[in-house]
Amino acid sequence: NIERRVDSVMTLMTLDEKVGQLTLFTSDIDVTGPTIRENYREDIRAGRVGAVFNAFGADYTRKLQELAVKETRLHIPLIFGYDVIHGHRTIFPIPLGEAASWDLTAMEQSARIAADEASAQGLHWTYAPMCDVSRDPRWGRMAEGAGEDTYLGALIAAARVKGFQGNGIGELNAVMACVKHFAAYGASQAGRDYHTTDMSDRVLREVYLPPYKAAVDAGAATVMTSFNELNGIPATGNKYLMTDILRKEWNFQGFVVTDYTSIMEMIPHGIAEDTASAAMLSLEAGVDMDMQAGFYNSALTRLVKEGKLKEALVNEAVRRVLRKKFELGLFDDPYRFCNAEREKATIMKPEFLAASRDMARKSIVLLKNDKNVLPLSKNTKTIAVIGPLADAKKEMIGSWSAAGEGARAVSLLEGIKAATPPATKIIYARGCNINDDTTTYFAQALQAARQADVVVMALGEAALMTGEAASRASLNLPGVQQQLLEEIYKTGKPIAVVLMNGRPLTINWMTTSNVSILETWFLGTQAGHAIADVLFGDYNPAGKLPVTFPRSVGQIPIFYSMKNTGRPMDPDNKYTSKYLDEKNTPLFPFGFGLSYTTFDYGNVALSKHDITMQDNITVTCKVKNTGKREGEEIVQLYVRDLVGSVTRPVKELKGFRKVMLQPGETKDVAFTLSQQDLSFYRRDMSFGTEPGKYIVFVGPNAETTNQATFTLR
Ligand code: IFM
Repeated sequence: NIERRVDSVMTLMTLDEKVGQLTLFTSDIDVTGPTIRENYREDIRAGRVGAVFNAFGADYTRKLQELAVKETRLHIPLIFGYDVIHGHRTIFPIPLGEAASWDLTAMEQSARIAADEASAQGLHWTYAPMCDVSRDPRWGRMAEGAGEDTYLGALIAAARVKGFQGNGIGELNAVMACVKHFAAYGASQAGRDYHTTDMSDRVLREVYLPPYKAAVDAGAATVMTSFNELNGIPATGNKYLMTDILRKEWNFQGFVVTDYTSIMEMIPHGIAEDTASAAMLSLEAGVDMDMQAGFYNSALTRLVKEGKLKEALVNEAVRRVLRKKFELGLFDDPYRFCNAEREKATIMKPEFLAASRDMARKSIVLLKNDKNVLPLSKNTKTIAVIGPLADAKKEMIGSWSAAGEGARAVSLLEGIKAATPPATKIIYARGCNINDDTTTYFAQALQAARQADVVVMALGEAALMTGEAASRASLNLPGVQQQLLEEIYKTGKPIAVVLMNGRPLTINWMTTSNVSILETWFLGTQAGHAIADVLFGDYNPAGKLPVTFPRSVGQIPIFYSMKNTGRPMDPDNKYTSKYLDEKNTPLFPFGFGLSYTTFDYGNVALSKHDITMQDNITVTCKVKNTGKREGEEIVQLYVRDLVGSVTRPVKELKGFRKVMLQPGETKDVAFTLSQQDLSFYRRDMSFGTEPGKYIVFVGPNAETTNQATFTLR
């Protein structure tokens, strides 16, 4: 039925009108890139635009929709897109933070709520989830993804797509997902944005592609190209990616949009000479929609008329876009998402705020608490709350919180005040700014610390030091924050550091001092309440790192699933794989996170030690809560294939379970390992298993040595 309706529209369209459907322009509300078109409204009226981004609000989108529906010849409605990355109006933790919860249901729910709010504001399309595996914390965009791991990243990508798209994109509270940035943007050289990616097909397929594929398999309606080149060809002109892999191998049926002006950027990349050649390269690669460059508008009609480009390619792209407009129900009612009453009733509902607080608590990782500074007693007489992020509201919602309002976020100071009895004295001192060398506020902060029984220090990055165009060459605390911390430490007061950041930081000094450390990322609208819940023990933290924390920038890339090398590190042998001036090990490994209770792991038990290619294997491990309060543990299963036709990583995550345990309680935690889990790209690039010996590890993080072995015949 939809195909027939698409045909009926196509027969009415001129070539120019078709090209118009392949064009996406930003409105003037906001920009998420360096260019703006003043006259985009004229473009809409003239039928030169198929979709608009950076416009939201029931009334505003209705007005723009009217331009398309009432003033163009064919009355074809627009699609409205927006960066709804971690919440729309109710902001949730940054995606890297959410990933630390390892809670797929909660992440799906967070995307569901974002879709509900976004669609209530006239939006049909989000530019999420970001599925880029990233092993380079210098790259600011690591904050937008699920971290370093392929397996975890793929599960999270699928959960987010399900959340955004609900039961299908025709639903009123669903939005189209957009899998980005296709592909391998997370591996751009030196952690620099818009840079080059160069990798083997094996690594591409084994490490980087699975999360995008999982999102496509989950039904994602659209895909966004990436800014990087891959092995010499910019993604936006890369037919291998956009057609061979995405459409032919993965059977992707939706449409592909460029990232911002990436068609135009193929000129400075040095692969296209001019507008026409860039537009042609991109369309022929399989890219359907041009975001913001206007190159399709400028060139495609002429290229077809000159016989240089097949009209059939334009037609195919237009069909893909129109199909989505039909599926969204826009041809039946172009204003179905522009309902001001629904908008009012939906935005920042109390239950959305509660879900955001819950997600935020689940995202917190307790990195260190050896002196048991945490949890704090609510009867503490005087608490000093110090640091440039202690009273910050806007920073709490992190980068890419486009429609979020910083003013509505709860700061840490507000959260602490709300959690403590009126008799508790809270002394606030900023101490320093986030990223400059001003030390003049140190004295006031020291005075506050001296009067207090305990000090809570909120340190880290500014929200906009993460996200796009936010690469860093140093991962230290910015500005004079480290100096401030060391000065306060000299007072001898117990200190709990609350870190706020969008990437791993090299916080080595903290790990050798007596401070406790909570990793809180940027937790969103309810940040202050969620952190206070953990600080005062109303919530027992259970998050685990989705990314390795390096000791120094020189170790990057450092990730848990590295290869063994021919000369594994031996401290007594110079000629082994190591640094002269740094350890090989991370500061905190992937999967690491503490609790206010403690857990013991029993031996790893296997249902069989000898299996054939058809068998599954059951792995069990007893986990006991050995502490005094209930707590959740994320039990992780890793596999190592000892000998292969190609070398294999020293560990690969292949399962995890989140279990709640009462004090003294023991649970048997069981996993099933299947052929799929043991498969990889073999020497001939076929995907499958190989016979041989395997080690299975079950433990609390990627450094676990708790293991058993089996043989695959
Ligand atoms: O969705 C984003 C993308 O991640 C980076 N460039 C701009 C796009 C649209 O805002």
